[in-house]
Amino acid sequence: MSGFSIDWLDLREDADRRARDSDLCERAVHWLQLAPSRGREAIVVDLGAGTGSTLRALDGAGQRPLLWRLLDHDPALLAEARRRHGGQTGIETFAADLSDIGTLPLDGARLVTASALFDLVSAEFLQALAQVLQRPAGQDPIGVYSALNYDGLTQWTPSHPLDDVVLEAFNCDQRRDKGFGPALGPEAAGAMCDAFSQAGFRVFSASSPWVLDGADEPLVSALITGIAAAVAGSPGVAVSSLEDWVRFRQAQVTSGSCTVGHTDLLAVPDPASAHATV
Ligand SMILES: C[S@@+](CC[C@H](N)C(=O)[O-])C[C@H]1O[C@@H](n2cnc3c(N)ncnc32)[C@H](O)[C@@H]1O
Repeated sequence: MSGFSIDWLDLREDADRRARDSDLCERAVHWLQLAPSRGREAIVVDLGAGTGSTLRALDGAGQRPLLWRLLDHDPALLAEARRRHGGQTGIETFAADLSDIGTLPLDGARLVTASALFDLVSAEFLQALAQVLQRPAGQDPIGVYSALNYDGLTQWTPSHPLDDVVLEAFNCDQRRDKGFGPALGPEAAGAMCDAFSQAGFRVFSASSPWVLDGADEPLVSALITGIAAAVAGSPGVAVSSLEDWVRFRQAQVTSGSCTVGHTDLLAVPDPASAHATV
């Protein structure tokens, strides 16, 4: 099991959709539209697809018929994706462990997508993925659209004296191994830029923060609970101080606000170009 519940993915989906950088999203769709036609759909492979949030975020964008391959190692999430989209054509699900890159069904892909995934993986995974996606001789080029990579910055209003300590401990927890080797956590965007630039891709990035307020109460409340669970027992985080922080944060959940930083990236093959920010 992945540890990502349907409830949690549902809670975050609306905030994710609002946060996605629209320009990069449009560029990703444009990349799909430009795919050589050859009388068939353009293939999108969504890594760590969960219940299909990336598919829903890009739904209806562009005119080109698409074939979505949703990959995840959690059969319950893929079953939910099939339940939600089973009636639609052009959707396949694959139970797959992404860490076994060589076996992933990437053949014929025009675009590889991921959302809220690359902060879970290691630098070695991204380097290996970039190598695999380098244009093989005789095949069409593949782009990569990776949205909502946590960047390590969480800001709360109003502030609490323990905010910085909690954030530091949380960011430390973000680097724990999630099955791919030491996780990149807040370094995900930089590592993706490095790996894909070195492999001959042109990489565009843009910030895509969650901007949350009282209207997002269920998500913010779950976020507080999740952060507290992740940092409990960390050096420098006393039990009583953490309890005080949680009480304060939950009391502010409807009147306060919170920004959680993310970065979106789009990598397209272009041997002549270096990293660019849009
Ligand atoms: C944070 S969730 C994001 C899900 C989805 N992309 C979204 O934005 O709602 C990370 C996803 O990666 C999947 N995942 C984590 N490690 C994996 C692995 N080794 N192989 C396949 N999927 C994995 C999880 O099951 C989960 O669905």
